[in-house]
Amino acid sequence: MRHAPISSKLFVENRQRLRALLPPKSVAILNANDIPPTNADGTMTGVPNSDFFYLSGVEQEDSILVIAPDAHEEKHREILFLRETNDHIARWEGRKLSKEEARKLTGIQTIMWLEEFPLMQRLLMCQSDAVFLNSNEHARADVQVESRDARFIRRIREAFPLHRYERLAKLMHQLRPVKSAAEVELIKKACGITRDAFLRVLKFVKPGVNECEIEAEFAHEFIRQRGRFAYNPIIASGAGANVLHYVSNDQPCRKGDVLLLDVGAAYANYAADMTRTIPVGGKFTKRQKQVYQAVLRVMRGCIAELKPGTLPRDWQKTAERLMQEELLELELLKPKDIKKQDPDRPALKKYFMHGVGHPLGLDVHDIATIGEPMQAGWVMTVEPGIYLPDEGFGIRLENDVLITADGQVDLMADIPVEADEIEDLMND
Ligand code: GLY
Ligand code: MN
Ligand code: MN
Repeated sequence: MRHAPISSKLFVENRQRLRALLPPKSVAILNANDIPPTNADGTMTGVPNSDFFYLSGVEQEDSILVIAPDAHEEKHREILFLRETNDHIARWEGRKLSKEEARKLTGIQTIMWLEEFPLMQRLLMCQSDAVFLNSNEHARADVQVESRDARFIRRIREAFPLHRYERLAKLMHQLRPVKSAAEVELIKKACGITRDAFLRVLKFVKPGVNECEIEAEFAHEFIRQRGRFAYNPIIASGAGANVLHYVSNDQPCRKGDVLLLDVGAAYANYAADMTRTIPVGGKFTKRQKQVYQAVLRVMRGCIAELKPGTLPRDWQKTAERLMQEELLELELLKPKDIKKQDPDRPALKKYFMHGVGHPLGLDVHDIATIGEPMQAGWVMTVEPGIYLPDEGFGIRLENDVLITADGQVDLMADIPVEADEIEDLMND
């Protein structure tokens, strides 16, 4: 665990919130993520399963969490199963959680080794009617491999075909969007690390540096501060900014170009998601600045609309209305383009073709209850952009914003975004 210890209170309360949603005589079973293979005997760095982490704080592979609020014996109502270590594992892989450490980390009192799982599973299944199992129900997920949870679902349904199986994801989608104060602190920490790395990069960027060298500056600061990249960074100079999911980060930065940086740190698995667009040579051209100011005004207008009760689809419409006004002002759109537009494909989409923002949390594109109004405790990104392939550049800006009972707090308010301030910092 690279990050500072987190109080088990966060995970105890998260489990309490889940228990409140479970019907009588139910059991929820969650698995840690697999460590994905590369080639030969190689593996990728594993990433904790977000739901598993949310309910336990555990980042160790192979672990299983069982929550059975009505189990006959109180000690069986929450059980964490862990891989038991031995001298061989300690020699080759290093330390694994002891039972005592796991109790302290999670607040769960009953910790068992994995070999006890089959018997406990049978016992608890015999005491339960409904079984809540986990799956990835993110609307845009495109998963081609069978996850550990998916394998588990297949096997348990075969072994116990007559139980009632339910979607844990539905409950997790209700719980996770509303961040507790402790979670907001972790997201703020991720934003702070992102800010520090961006300030470092502002001093580093100059004509001739390669995009990958800039990525390395971010990596240095993120890892130094016990974080990691929350997602594959986009370091896109010149026309690269018009490729929305550009990740090759391999081009030299040229004087006169702008550089789009869509980069965020994760701290304790909580993500920041920032975009800034800066002039490679330390000074925007008049045209670049004109487009930049338009995007900044749209971002600010959209931030102001984040409050409890706002429907995400209405917020997107607001963003599109604000953007349309700016595009008319920039003469990228003419009134006649709007008059003749297909309402399902408004003209502004030529320049701003993605969503204005998304929930943020343990996942960068965090889970949410689709179609529900925003609530206090949600954290949303706000990320308008104008993409101009014909002019060889694109501008996007992105801040992370907490929705509160009476409005919103911009968690990235201290990351420079004014064009003049960016220029001053680059030329300092
Ligand atoms: N970095 C991914 C996004 O902005 O949504
Ligand atoms: Mn982003
Ligand atoms: Mn984003």
